[in-house]
Amino acid sequence: MLAGGFETVAIPMNFKQKTFFTSWRGTACGAAPANRSGSGRHPYLLALLLIMTLPLARAQSASVYTDVAPILQERCTMCHSGGAPAAGLRLDSLESLLEGSTRGKVVVAGAPEDSELLRRIRGESQPRMPMTGPPFLSDAEIAIIEQWIAGGLQAGKTNGEQASATTPTPRPAAGEKVTYLHVAPIFAKRCAKCHTENGLMGPAPEGYRLTSHQETLAHRERVRVVPGNPAASELVRRIRGQSRARMPLDGPPYLDAEEIRLIEDWIAQGAANAGGEPAPVPVGTRVRLQGRLTAMNRLDDLEFFIGANTRIDKNPRPGDYVEMRGRIGPDGRVIVERLRRR
Ligand code: HEC
Ligand code: HEC
Repeated sequence: MLAGGFETVAIPMNFKQKTFFTSWRGTACGAAPANRSGSGRHPYLLALLLIMTLPLARAQSASVYTDVAPILQERCTMCHSGGAPAAGLRLDSLESLLEGSTRGKVVVAGAPEDSELLRRIRGESQPRMPMTGPPFLSDAEIAIIEQWIAGGLQAGKTNGEQASATTPTPRPAAGEKVTYLHVAPIFAKRCAKCHTENGLMGPAPEGYRLTSHQETLAHRERVRVVPGNPAASELVRRIRGQSRARMPLDGPPYLDAEEIRLIEDWIAQGAANAGGEPAPVPVGTRVRLQGRLTAMNRLDDLEFFIGANTRIDKNPRPGDYVEMRGRIGPDGRVIVERLRRR
């Protein structure tokens, strides 16, 4: 710590320290000796002044919030801002950053190693931030944030001035393929506060986490996203309100039409990962869907297939709200095993 602190000052001493020394004398008014050449003739005085200015010089070399804000703005505020920020953590102003998340403070002045924010961007704490990574932050960007914490969370010149409140969700350009990058901010802002380990409701509801591409498409017990088939995806039924309870559970507000459309398009186009690679159809995996029977082979807008072994309970009729369990067939179609009125 001491050696590190000394080093940061020792390197620019010839050049920077001298200018700093001059300005210190300037601002210290009557306290400093009037004779400018005095320090040269009194080496002990120079040494004393250097020791006195050490902490100041150090703070000056550390970064300030205004260096950090553009990084947060570009890589973090898409999820960490607004009325329902990820983890309850807003990173769009110094004030809200210092408030921390629903779990507590994320930065500790002078203690980078105790600061969850730094641990997240380094990947020492998981999931690594930004959630959209890779790419994660560059070493240079991480260094700026680390110095800011080490230097005591200085506000910088524009103290009190806040970065603009929100960055719009990145939308695909017309004709551009929808990838996980486009939908991830919606899941992060509106869903991950519950659908994560240790979220608002404790363990993820139904064991379903919405914190990464892999988890969103996971099919341990059943799939909620069927690549290529939005209507067979319970996730889509939930955000549309066709299946109960409508998601997000803390709505209204629910997702707006544009957000729902984006998620539907993402799934219809293969539920691609951040790199644009479509996901395979999870043939043979289980589904559990709810919705309204619109014909004897339709659940809302989904055409399904009844086989010889399909079990039908409680005599469901068109117009009834039903629960259906089945498996995904080779082409992404739903083959029903059990259909039951609810
Ligand atoms: C795509 C959305 C998204 C982006 C972008 C994102 N985050 Fe997060 N962040 C989340 C979610 C979701 C969580 C909660 C995950 C968890 O801890 O289980 C989270 C959690 C955190 C936490 C943990 C809070 C705590 O107290 O445990 C920190 C710190 C954090 N993010 C910082 C950042 C920083 C810094 C950036 C930018 C470099 C960033 N995040 C970018 C979605 C995002
Ligand atoms: C306030 C907490 C909360 C939020 C926010 C939330 N959920 Fe849920 N979600 C739950 C609970 C609890 C359940 C289980 C109860 C049920 O199935 O109705 C659930 C169930 C689900 C299911 C059904 C899982 C299954 O196995 O069939 C899906 C899909 C889902 N949520 C998606 C979402 C999506 C997408 C969002 C964001 C747009 C979201 N949830 C936001 C709490 C939440």
